[in-house]
Amino acid sequence: MPENNNNDVVLRVKDLHVSFYTNQRCNNVLRGVSFDIRRGRTLCIVGESGCGKSVTANSILRLLPDLSRIESGSITYYKEDGTEVRLDQLEKNGKEMRSLRGKDIAIIFQDPMTALNPVYTVGHQIREIIKEHKPGLTKQQLKQESIQDLAEMGIPAAEIRDGEYPHQFSGGMRQRAMIAMGMSCEPKILLADEPTTALDVTISAQIFDLMNGLKRDHGTAIMMITHNMGVVAEMADEVAVMYMGNIVEYGKVEDVFANPTHPYTKALLRSIPVLGKGRNQQLEPIRGVTPDPFNRPKGCQFCPRCDYAGERCETEMPSEEWVKEGHYTRCFHFREVMKDGK
Ligand SMILES: Nc1ncnc2c1ncn2[C@@H]1O[C@H](COP(=O)(O)OP(=O)(O)OP(=O)(O)O)[C@@H](O)[C@H]1O
Ligand SMILES: [Mg+2]
Repeated sequence: MPENNNNDVVLRVKDLHVSFYTNQRCNNVLRGVSFDIRRGRTLCIVGESGCGKSVTANSILRLLPDLSRIESGSITYYKEDGTEVRLDQLEKNGKEMRSLRGKDIAIIFQDPMTALNPVYTVGHQIREIIKEHKPGLTKQQLKQESIQDLAEMGIPAAEIRDGEYPHQFSGGMRQRAMIAMGMSCEPKILLADEPTTALDVTISAQIFDLMNGLKRDHGTAIMMITHNMGVVAEMADEVAVMYMGNIVEYGKVEDVFANPTHPYTKALLRSIPVLGKGRNQQLEPIRGVTPDPFNRPKGCQFCPRCDYAGERCETEMPSEEWVKEGHYTRCFHFREVMKDGK
C-alpha cells in the first residue's frame, strides 16, 4: 500500500503475512494485509467467515496461538508522545506487550469465555482494569464504577450481577461484561471482534452508542469486525473488505459504498436488505463457494466467483491500487467494475 502519511494514524498494519502450521501443512491465512487505524475514527473490517478477520485483530495484540507465525510485514503503534512501537517485534508476553494490552489497546473477543476468568467475580475483573487506569480510587468508588459500567451495558440488577461469577451470566450478559471491560480503561485503540453479534438489536444499539461516545470523548480509535454490511453503514468511517486473507478494498465508507471497485464488495452490497422494500426482496447470494485454503486459486482469490475475471486474474494476484486518495482496491478490472451500474 502506498504511504499515506497522516498524523492521525494510531496503528499501521503493513503487508502483514501470517501462517498457521497444522498437521505439517502451512496455511497462509493473511497474505499481505495493509490498513491504518486513525484517532477518533472507526474502521470496520467486513468479510465472510474464515477470511482472516479475527486473526488480523489477534495479530495486533500478539494473541495468536503458538501454531501460527507472523511471517513478514509490520504492525506499528504510534503513541501520543510521538514514539513508535513495532508490535510485531515485541515479545509476545513480554513486559511491554502486557502493559499495552488493555491499557493502550483493548480487545473485545468474539468468544467472551476466552476473556473472562472463571474464578473471579465479574465486578472484580472490571475493577482490576479500572484500577490500572485510575489509580487512587477508593474501594467504594471502584465498586460504584464497575456497577455503573455493567448498568451502562444494559445488565439488569447490576449491583447483584457485579458480585457474580462468569458462569452465572447468560452468554449475552458475558458478552456485555466483556465489552464493559474493554471500554472501562478508555483505551487509545479498541479492537472489537463481532462485539454484538449475539445480542439483540436494542442492546446492540446501546453498545454502539457507548462506543461512539468513547470515540467522541476520548478520541479512541475503533477497529470493529463484523460480517454485517448494515453495521458497517451505521458505524464505520473507514471500511476494509476482506476476502481469503487479503483486504480487497479499503476506503472511507462513503467512497466505498458510492463507488465500489471490487466485485466482492459489490456482491456484499447487493446482499444488504433495503429498508422499505419488504421482507420478500431478492437478496443476491454470491455465486460459487469459498475455495479450500489449501488449494487456493493461483491469481486473484476471488477469480473463480467473479463476473469480471479475465485471463490475467487467473494467474496473477492484483496488488493494491489507489482509486483515489485513501481508497484502494485489488482488482485489475476496477475501472470496469466502477462503471458498471450492477
Ligand atoms: N487456531 C487455529 N488453528 C488453525 N487454523 C486457524 C486457527 N485459527 C484460525 N485459523 C485459520 O485462519 C483462517 C481465518 O480465521 P479467522 O478466525 O481469522 O476467521 P474470521 O474471518 O474471523 O471468521 P469468522 O467470521 O467465522 O469469525 C481460518 O479459515 C482458519 O483456516
Ligand atoms: Mg472471527
